[in-house]
Amino acid sequence: MPFARIRDASYYLRVRLAAWYGAVFAGLVLVALLIVYEGSRHTIIRETDERLLEDAKETSQAVAQLHPDRRRVEEMLARKADTHTHERLFLQLIDPDGDLSWSSKEAPPGIDEDLRDFTDEVAVREVGVFRVAQRYVDAAGAPRFLVRVGASQEQIDAAVWKRTRVMMVAGLLIIILAPLGGYWVAGSAIQPLTSIIHTAQRLRPTQLSDRLPIRGTGDELDQLSGTINRFLDRIGEYLARNREFVANAAHELRSPLAAIRSSVEVALNASRTTAEYQALLETVADECSQLTSLVNQLLLLAESDAGRVLRHVEPLQLDRLVDSSAEMFRGVAEERGVVLEADLHDKVRILGDAARLRQVINNLIDNAVKFTPAGGRVRIETECREGDRKGVLRVSDTGCGIPAHDLAHVFERFYRGDKSREREGPSRGTGLGLAITRAIIHAHAGEIEVVSSVGRGTTFLITLPLADAAPQLDTADKPIDRSAVGGSQVGR
Ligand SMILES: Nc1ncnc2c1ncn2[C@@H]1O[C@H](COP(=O)(O)OP(=O)(O)OP(=O)(O)O)[C@@H](O)[C@H]1O
Ligand SMILES: [Mg+2]
Repeated sequence: MPFARIRDASYYLRVRLAAWYGAVFAGLVLVALLIVYEGSRHTIIRETDERLLEDAKETSQAVAQLHPDRRRVEEMLARKADTHTHERLFLQLIDPDGDLSWSSKEAPPGIDEDLRDFTDEVAVREVGVFRVAQRYVDAAGAPRFLVRVGASQEQIDAAVWKRTRVMMVAGLLIIILAPLGGYWVAGSAIQPLTSIIHTAQRLRPTQLSDRLPIRGTGDELDQLSGTINRFLDRIGEYLARNREFVANAAHELRSPLAAIRSSVEVALNASRTTAEYQALLETVADECSQLTSLVNQLLLLAESDAGRVLRHVEPLQLDRLVDSSAEMFRGVAEERGVVLEADLHDKVRILGDAARLRQVINNLIDNAVKFTPAGGRVRIETECREGDRKGVLRVSDTGCGIPAHDLAHVFERFYRGDKSREREGPSRGTGLGLAITRAIIHAHAGEIEVVSSVGRGTTFLITLPLADAAPQLDTADKPIDRSAVGGSQVGR
């Protein structure tokens, strides 16, 4: 339907720009034409007035010379009127009583009555469509006759049109052609935009290699293309990390599932003794708890991506949390021949989520004990730093240390050092602990740092704002939408 097409087209930027351009340009041309027309009209009126006054003066002088020969005066007036006819001027002679004494035939009937009160000799008066000038006849000893000369305004309008018509026609043509010019100008202005749209339409989540052309002009469209290209780079990196994360998660889930499956198959293959069934079921239970812990870790990371790590923020004493965790690990440390020391003198009052902070402390102590050989030492300290109003937690060990090439990656998701990869069984770890630790600390507006030296040990340092200096912390007031966070479990 052509009408629908026209309506759709009006939404296109090019048509809208052309319409605006045409309207503004046509407006300006119209104003210019109006100024030219009025200026010409004003000039022609002034010229006409000057001529009327001059004519009135000359005629009155001629009348004065011929006075009192009435016949010759009228002949002279008739001659003058004749020479003027093609210009549509009229002449009148008014007697001293104000009555019409003689009039050329072009004079409109009754105009002398309209001008009865008109006595001025220097100004021109407008009466209806006429402009009229007059002059008294100064003949010695003669009564004062009055000569009137008038011109039709139609004559003036015709003269104005004659003088301006070329410009008017040209102006009208420009007004008609302006939208077409605007359409062309808008087309070349938005051409880069069209190529941006076409490139953007080609982009797919699986095909993000295309980039928008940069013309090198440095204008707004170039800046827009640059911004979109950088955005595409970031989306590409994000998707790559996301794919890696999903692959890692699947890989980690596969091992316990395989163990469960094989235990169940062994149990089903032949009849077993009660003790054998019990051993197999214990394996299944262990693997299930490993699966549960892994799934919980993944969910926590998903919540951290959605900015909902913290649930119940309340005033806490960090040293007390650390103390109870240290107690919990004391047995494990002893078992491994590692000395666990806690130096918790200060009262470190902070705002935080106790359950989440316990996860942080446990992971740091767990790592320290896990990566410290027998005979080593793990030291846990808390401190209240008055200067910058920070609470400090320091977990240091005399363990194997972290090589420099690993140090930059330990906070990445699923990243495990060589020592961790070598391990088997539950102590192998998934490489999510420090990623979660960092997410929780950042959610508390805190910082985490690590210093390590291979063979000498590692120190993790956490700083958190003290309760009186803590900012407003984001908490998950409503339950997390699992479907919304499912696809965004990628590290920052
Ligand atoms: N105290 C430490 N001493 C030596 N290496 C450490 C220490 N803490 C962490 N690491 C290194 O950093 C890696 C990542 O630690 P992270 O806690 O994230 O994972 P993990 O302990 O291997 O597994 P998970 O915590 O998920 O059970 C570890 O695999 C290890 O190589
Ligand atoms: Mg760990």
